[in-house]
Amino acid sequence: MKTYLVTGGAGFIGSNYIHYMFKKYNDEIRIINVDKLTYAGNLENLKDVEDRENYSFVKADICDADAINKIFEENDIDRVVHFAAESHVDRSIKNPDVFIKTNVLGTLVMLNAAKAAWEIGDNVYKEDKKFLHVSTDEVYGSLEKEGEYFYETTPYDPHSPYSASKASSDFLVKSYMDTYKFPANITNCSNNYGPYQFPEKLIPLIINNALQGKKLPVYGDGKNVRDWLYVEDHAKGIDMVQEQGRLFETYNIGGHNEKQNIEIINLIIDTLQEMLPDSDPRKKLVSKDLITYVEDRKGHDRRYAIAPDKIKAEIGWVPDTCFAEGIKLTIAWFFEHEEWMQRVTSGDYQKYYEEMYK
Ligand code: NAD
Ligand code: TYD
Repeated sequence: MKTYLVTGGAGFIGSNYIHYMFKKYNDEIRIINVDKLTYAGNLENLKDVEDRENYSFVKADICDADAINKIFEENDIDRVVHFAAESHVDRSIKNPDVFIKTNVLGTLVMLNAAKAAWEIGDNVYKEDKKFLHVSTDEVYGSLEKEGEYFYETTPYDPHSPYSASKASSDFLVKSYMDTYKFPANITNCSNNYGPYQFPEKLIPLIINNALQGKKLPVYGDGKNVRDWLYVEDHAKGIDMVQEQGRLFETYNIGGHNEKQNIEIINLIIDTLQEMLPDSDPRKKLVSKDLITYVEDRKGHDRRYAIAPDKIKAEIGWVPDTCFAEGIKLTIAWFFEHEEWMQRVTSGDYQKYYEEMYK
């Protein structure tokens, strides 16, 4: 049975990944989830799995080398899947420091701990040990011309403190692969959406605000383009890269789904109106009149678009969920989890750890 150490498993993508892995492998794997539970970490995302014998949670900061080394000493870890990070660009513009600390130094701690636990000779490692570093397409910078795409060979050109910190962490992982032959992969994925996404990011923010008749803030002219992928397809890609990818390689993950922000916002409004029954009082609140153009984000990247040719050709990964379906699944999930949203926006979810794990 393989033991996975998942960092940041209480966040958006990490919790979806843990659900995906238990659905796929059931009792054939063990997962240890390590998370500091920052504002973005919500253990309520993992209620469904918390009683499983093959799941455990450790509250720890990835910057705390002693705590991370202890996990490796007490467990024979086979796979590391490293999600833990500060992930929101707007926050990085306001407070870059914590991005450097968690995303760069935290990644260094993870690399050192795994290397110490797995290395059996000079640059020689125990068999079948693998580290996967989860990264973003934002490290490649901004595409200005139509028809251009991010390939694995595209030079890094990060602009925000967030993307600069992720680029630094990618380079650290690359340096460990090159210098120490450390068994790792890097994945660079486009923008994710789906269940459990914290409502500071565009899609859940727009859904939540629209349902309450609150303004829908559009940065700049609303024509910035992001390449959206349903989160479960990202989880599937990570697993496929780790099991079938060539070690030491980087794989871009994206589903050719480029949309302008204003298109996304209009589509969410249309879909909400279509899905809400006439008897639901929220239907009257949802309106395009809520769209409000606001000051642009500083250094706002214009367009992201992934070329997923390598992961498709080498591994056979393709997304299962198209955007039209994924956005409906996401909206339906938010309808069914109104309480989740209330607890997240009121801050009540942060009491869950104290209640559950005291
Ligand atoms: P998130 O903000 O929802 O979750 C991050 C998780 O990491 C939280 O549970 C948080 O508590 C935890 N964490 C933060 N600092 C920590 C620390 N010092 N020690 C331990 N845990 C800590 O982020 P997400 O959107 O799920 O992103 C996960 C990863 O995927 C990140 O590395 C991000 O860069 C990458 N990524 C995200 C997207 C996206 O669209 N959201 C796209 C591509 C790549
Ligand atoms: P976001 O979800 O923060 O992801 P990222 O910046 O990592 O791509 O933002 C997605 C896009 O939506 C980005 O171009 C900024 C824009 N945006 C808005 O227009 N309004 C908002 O309220 C937010 C949060 C984002």
